[in-house]
Amino acid sequence: WHVAVLMGGWSAERPVSLSSGEGVAKALESRGHRVTRIDMDRNVAQRLAETQADVVFNALHGVPGEDGTVQGMMDLMGLIYTHSGLATSVIAIDKQLTKQALVPHGIPMPGGHIVESESLFTADPLPRPYVLKPVNEGSSVGVAIVTDEGNYGNPIARDAVGPWQDFPELLAEPYIRGRELTTAVLGDEALLVTELRPKSGFYDFDAKYTDGMTEHVCPADIPAEISEACKAIALRAHQLLGCKGASRADFRWDDERGLEGLFLLEVNTQPGMTPLSLVPEQAAKLGIDYATLVETIVEEALN
Ligand code: DAL
Ligand code: MG
Repeated sequence: WHVAVLMGGWSAERPVSLSSGEGVAKALESRGHRVTRIDMDRNVAQRLAETQADVVFNALHGVPGEDGTVQGMMDLMGLIYTHSGLATSVIAIDKQLTKQALVPHGIPMPGGHIVESESLFTADPLPRPYVLKPVNEGSSVGVAIVTDEGNYGNPIARDAVGPWQDFPELLAEPYIRGRELTTAVLGDEALLVTELRPKSGFYDFDAKYTDGMTEHVCPADIPAEISEACKAIALRAHQLLGCKGASRADFRWDDERGLEGLFLLEVNTQPGMTPLSLVPEQAAKLGIDYATLVETIVEEALN
């Protein structure tokens, strides 16, 4: 094949995408495919048209590569591309829209609501501890946990450093104590459950991408009932949203509450493909090496 690997872009996750894209490009080359690397800029349509590849591997993360914008452009151009299409991407990039799509189908997700950042300095939107996050960022960019100890002040101090500086609106959700779990879906199969155990704090950007900062336990050492539930929810969410190729469902599990304590946080339609990323790690545990994983995703797009 001739594959255009689309990466980079200008979201906060640009470095993550460059790492995902380079991994994918090298893997395809190792299997004898022709690769054109495209770092996305505003001329991406022209460059994709000139490249005339058989298929585009979308290795973008965040906006506008994961939110339907680039997908819509590629639809208009008649290009074949990996991962989810326009409508799925629009919903899945938005953590609040995802809830509206999945909760009515019985998928357990935390409550919460959108708040104007400005209002945070007057009153807490929820009882502490709670989580503030932008609706459409990835890799924990802009996530803050506001605790009873008043870590940002009580009420939140205007000069405290938090996501409210960068985002006029945030999603406020109750903080779910306990454990961080994730499940990849490839094609029509949920792979495994990984538990992420950050060495300190929570599984934030640094804990995600700095080698040694988070222990990955795969398969997770959790009751079979919980791991089966993660896989069933991940697959059902993938199907309900209409995801293609690969997706990854992220969970919090309050281990003092059994099955009742399991909550889906979000579905990632462009999951990371970096050396520390979780989808490749789960695939490898099942005997699917990185290059085979990449080829499997491309094949699904071509079929
Ligand atoms: N947003 C990052 C890339 C992930 O989901 O893996
Ligand atoms: Mg995400």
